Amino acid sequence: MANVVVVGSQWGDEGKGKIVDWLSERADVVVRFQGGHNAGHTLVVDGKVYKLSLLPSGIVRDGKLSIIGNGVVFDPHAFVAEAAKLQAQGVTITPDCLKIAENTALILSLHRELDGFREDAASNSGTKIGTTRRGIGPAYEDRVGRRAIRVMDLADLDTLPSKVERLLTHHNALRRGLGHPEVEHQAVIDELTSVADQVLPYMDRVWKILDDRRRAGDRILFEGAQGTLLDVDHGTYPFVTSSNTVAGQAAPGSGMGPEAIGYVLGITKAYTTRVGEGPFPTEQKNEIGEFLGTKGHEFGVVTGRKRRCGWFDAVLVRQAVAVNGINGIALTKLDVLDGLDEIKVCTGYRLDGEEIDYLPASQSAQARVEPIYESLEGWKETTKGARSWADLPAQAVKYVRHVEELIGAPVALLSTSPERDDTILVTDPFQD
Ligand code: GDP
Ligand code: IMO
Ligand code: MG
Repeated sequence: MANVVVVGSQWGDEGKGKIVDWLSERADVVVRFQGGHNAGHTLVVDGKVYKLSLLPSGIVRDGKLSIIGNGVVFDPHAFVAEAAKLQAQGVTITPDCLKIAENTALILSLHRELDGFREDAASNSGTKIGTTRRGIGPAYEDRVGRRAIRVMDLADLDTLPSKVERLLTHHNALRRGLGHPEVEHQAVIDELTSVADQVLPYMDRVWKILDDRRRAGDRILFEGAQGTLLDVDHGTYPFVTSSNTVAGQAAPGSGMGPEAIGYVLGITKAYTTRVGEGPFPTEQKNEIGEFLGTKGHEFGVVTGRKRRCGWFDAVLVRQAVAVNGINGIALTKLDVLDGLDEIKVCTGYRLDGEEIDYLPASQSAQARVEPIYESLEGWKETTKGARSWADLPAQAVKYVRHVEELIGAPVALLSTSPERDDTILVTDPFQD
């Protein structure tokens, strides 16, 4: 029996929420280990839709322990709002079933504002990232800059003023430079103290809880946010998020040793999407892109932005298999391809006249690569809602098999609609 880490193998929005929800039936503990409320994870259970950003997707099932690990950047006000929204949908959220690591760095309104100031300024010069404007990057900067306010600081009101002072020395200098008004010390103290009582009951020594659960033989499911191509090191830098999104981050982002990682499941969409700016070799700015976007409902959960759409890029996913150590994939949204006469798959790139089989690391080379496609015959039958391999048309099976071959990893799960149970199990990641 292995623990399982779920990661996105493309640019996010691969369907991680749906798969984590499905898998969490087999898990005891579900842990978020990076990112923040820039994530948008959609779960559909018997027609009821849950949209999660900060809370682990295991929260909708009773009897599971949900954990927000120290690798997350945590906006306490966003947390309170999301918890209230889910509670109104009937989800139980109590300190018994949710723990937040005491050493988790906070996102404050000054982070959100700085994110927005920078994006606005960059829009004028054409260099914006297209962030979710949730303050993710600035909060991670303060964390590694050793000036973050952390969850545990909410319980230590005597030392909070000096920590806020240190933070504001940095931020107010930045704000002056950007031509924005300074932040008042008391305003930050008020922002923190107003929410402390709603957060502190959930605070705990997460590393200890996880160690105890591991020793007790409990199954731990790690829920990644974003995707491998948005990883701050392995992604399309600088058009990335500010955390390591790859599977290895599950250990330091939760406080466990690397042996806890176990099976790595890469969530992989049967085509490709991306939100925000940056290179996208197989993007289809034409009727194919429109078809995929409309049929796949490709709109961002967090910002409502239209996602850019294109053909499946096997080069990127093959690279994701390598940098995450993916053991198997969950292939999602196969049904969106139903009805196409022809389906293209990118198998390599042409860069300055040469053929390559990887994504080059440099920004300018990434912008220059041209996809090399293979063409496959589509299928006319529907795969939507299929719950067994035998229900799939022969051409769809051929497509899946070809994807496996191109990326060098087997399909462990196949998803054929947003509904929890429209999922085909090939290999149980917990049993592998
Ligand atoms: P995440 O960020 O990786 O959790 O993915 P999102 O929730 O942002 O986006 C995936 C979208 O596709 C959501 O609206 C899901 O409900 C939906 N979805 C997930 N799996 C499938 C599938 O197999 N078929 C279809 N048609 N939709 C799916
Ligand atoms: P889930 O977990 C897709 C993208 C943003 C932007 C870049 C940086 O739902 O897959 P940030 O706000 O993180 O500084 O923005 O990363 N991005 C996502 N794209 N899915 C996500 O999460 C994303 N989280 C961030 O659009 O391009
Ligand atoms: Mg999403």
